[in-house]
Amino acid sequence: MLKKTIIIVLILGLSLTTGSFFLYWHSDQNQLGRLGYTQEDIQIICSHGQNFVKQVLQLDFEPQLHDILRQTDFQSQNLTFYLQELKRLQLPVESIVTFVNHPNYRSEEDYSIDQAAIMLHQYYLPANHERYFTLLEQLSTTEKLSSDEIVALVNSNRDREFYSNIVSTNLDDNILMLVNKYYYLEADYEPELVLLDQSYGAPEVYLESETFTHFDMLFQAALASGIQLYITSGYRGYAPQEEVFLDYLSRMSEEEALTYAAKPGFSEHQTGFALDVFVPGETTETFQNTFAASWLAEHAHEFGFILRYPPGKENLTGYSYEAWHFRYVGCEAANYIYENNLTLEEYWAVFVQK
Ligand code: DAL
Ligand code: ZN
Repeated sequence: MLKKTIIIVLILGLSLTTGSFFLYWHSDQNQLGRLGYTQEDIQIICSHGQNFVKQVLQLDFEPQLHDILRQTDFQSQNLTFYLQELKRLQLPVESIVTFVNHPNYRSEEDYSIDQAAIMLHQYYLPANHERYFTLLEQLSTTEKLSSDEIVALVNSNRDREFYSNIVSTNLDDNILMLVNKYYYLEADYEPELVLLDQSYGAPEVYLESETFTHFDMLFQAALASGIQLYITSGYRGYAPQEEVFLDYLSRMSEEEALTYAAKPGFSEHQTGFALDVFVPGETTETFQNTFAASWLAEHAHEFGFILRYPPGKENLTGYSYEAWHFRYVGCEAANYIYENNLTLEEYWAVFVQK
C-alpha cells in the first residue's frame, strides 16, 4: 500500500515537473530568450501584447530591434516597415522610425534615400509632397541637388516659372505679407503711411507706420555706430513701380531687367514694409563694400528687418543681391530668418502660409 502511494506520488511529481518544464520551454519569454533577446528587451516586447510577441517570434533575431523598441515614437504596428526600411535605406534607427511614422509614408513605395531625406526635412510641407518628388525626378538626370535645396526651391515656388501661377497676396499676413514674382498686390493697395522727415534721407519717402518706428530705431543705432544712413526709397505705389520697371527695360534686356526690378503689383515696396538705404555718396554698385552695408547685414534683424535679397539666394528670390534693400518683418521672424540663413520665401512657406 505504502509502496503504491510512493509510486503514485513520484509519477505525479515527475509529470508536474515535466509539465512545468514543457510550459516554460514554450513560453514567450523563453522563446524570445533563445532567439537572442535580453531580459530587458523581452519585457518591452511582451509589454506590447500577444500579437506583437507573435510577430517578433516569427522573425529571426533582429539585433536592431533593441534600438527600435527604445524610440519614444515607436509604434508596434509598424514593426515590419521599420525593419524593411532599415535594410533598404541604411539610415539611423531614429530617422527610420520617424520616416515610417510619417503621415505620407506608404509602405508599398520603394523610396530612395533622397526621397526619404526630403520627407524627413524640417521644412517639408505635406502640401508640396508631389512637387518635391517631381522636381527631384526632373533634376536627377542633370544635377544632383541636396534635400535642403529641393525643399527650399519648391517651398519658394521655384519649380514654377517666375510670374506663373500668380495669386494675390494675403493682406492678413500683415508684416509677414509675401510679395514676390508669385504673389502680388492689387494696383490700388496702399498701407497706412508715414511721411519721413528729410533728416532720414531723400524727400517724399513714405513708410508703413510700424515699419517707420522700427526704421527710426535702426537709424539711431547705426548713427551711434558712426553710420549716417540715407533712405532713398520706401513705399512705392503701382504707378511709380511701373516707371522703375520701364526705366530698367529701356536700358537692358527684359531678362536682365527682371533680376533688378519687379513688375508693378509685384514689388514689396508697395507694401510699405520695404526700403532702400545707402550712405551718402554710395551707389548700388559700391554700397555692398561699405562698413554700413556689413553693419546693416549683421544688425538689421535686431530691429525687425531682413536683408531681403541676399547673395547666394538669387534663384529663390528672383533678384540679384541688393545690399541696400531691407524689409520689415518684425523681430521674431527677422531673428529666425537671420539665424537660419533663410529668405522670406522659405520662412513664409513654413511659418506663415495657411
Ligand atoms: N528692386 C526690387 C526687387 C523691386 O523692384 O521691388
Ligand atoms: Zn528696394
